[in-house]
Amino acid sequence: MIRSDIRALNAYHVPDSSGMLKLDAMENPYSLPDELRSEWARRLSESDINRYPDADMLPLRSRIAELEGVQPDQVLIGNGSDEIIQMLLMAADAGPCAVPKPTFVMYEAVSKWLRRPVASMTLKPDFSLDAKAFLNMCSREKASLAFLACPNNPTGNMWPREDVQHIADNYRGLLVIDEAYGPFAEESYRDMITRNVLLLRTFSKLGMAGLRLGYALGDATLITELNKVRLPYNINTLTQLSVAFFLDHFAVFEEQAKKICVERERLLAVMQAMDKVEVFPSQTNFLLFRVADPAAVFGGLKQAGILIKNLHAKGSLLEGCLRVTIGTPEENNRFANALKELI
Ligand SMILES: Cc1ncc(COP(=O)(O)O)c(C=O)c1O
Repeated sequence: MIRSDIRALNAYHVPDSSGMLKLDAMENPYSLPDELRSEWARRLSESDINRYPDADMLPLRSRIAELEGVQPDQVLIGNGSDEIIQMLLMAADAGPCAVPKPTFVMYEAVSKWLRRPVASMTLKPDFSLDAKAFLNMCSREKASLAFLACPNNPTGNMWPREDVQHIADNYRGLLVIDEAYGPFAEESYRDMITRNVLLLRTFSKLGMAGLRLGYALGDATLITELNKVRLPYNINTLTQLSVAFFLDHFAVFEEQAKKICVERERLLAVMQAMDKVEVFPSQTNFLLFRVADPAAVFGGLKQAGILIKNLHAKGSLLEGCLRVTIGTPEENNRFANALKELI
């Protein structure tokens, strides 16, 4: 009944985090201010949930277009940017999907579901990308689309503008620049959008992970084609209303992102002072770090009630690596103190 290659896969595992300090999923640690909560609830209570949601979402696309400085017909909305990754992999020409390695796991996972081959190129040990070699790989493998997460997950670094621009200028397929961590990065590559270069963004990391709303910005003709593989009512009414409401109060989320960046630099310095930790600078809301015994550190933190992500894979570029999401100052102190005890 089910394809054998699907049966051979493992389902995406989300660990149980009940009662834990959750620093594993790149969420914003700050909750919504009380004064916004009641007005938000009031607006939601007025929604017509007996009706299907607005399928075209022109009002929401217009708001996002205004925020990003593009036209509404250049905006495609997805149930998280994950769903847009899926739409892209469904709609792009046949041929491999090109990715650096390591990068965000969903590009490869969804390619597998859709039986699309993946061409990957391992980053240098300092996590930098050889842009020329990447381009060569794309043409050698005849890759029809390529994903570049800028900044990259899980390494946290931003590839230099000239390298990404070089790829954007010379790649003939569809290039997707994924700016999921854009709110924490020094710059955006939004200006690189062309007829074959698309930008992917999300509200998840900014404090709305539970709403599931991501979007692509690109050439209007390309967006029209991608819209054909979007399920008609992919964004539910409550999410549409909520995002529209939160866009009216966007400064609250931007302020929180700024606080997260300040905390990231503070935690980086604290971890840099630990002899037995190699921590990598980041332009995201997480820090990647390497320790001698990642299983012991991960397990010890878990015992202390702190959940982070174990990325260790022997012989890979991520050997010994763990990833921690930036929390509130108190949460970061609790994590840093526990880490100190374990190394
Ligand atoms: C690089 C990157 N892109 C996209 C996503 C997906 O984000 P969402 O589906 O929540 O919008 C993530 C999530 O971790 C990510 O790291």
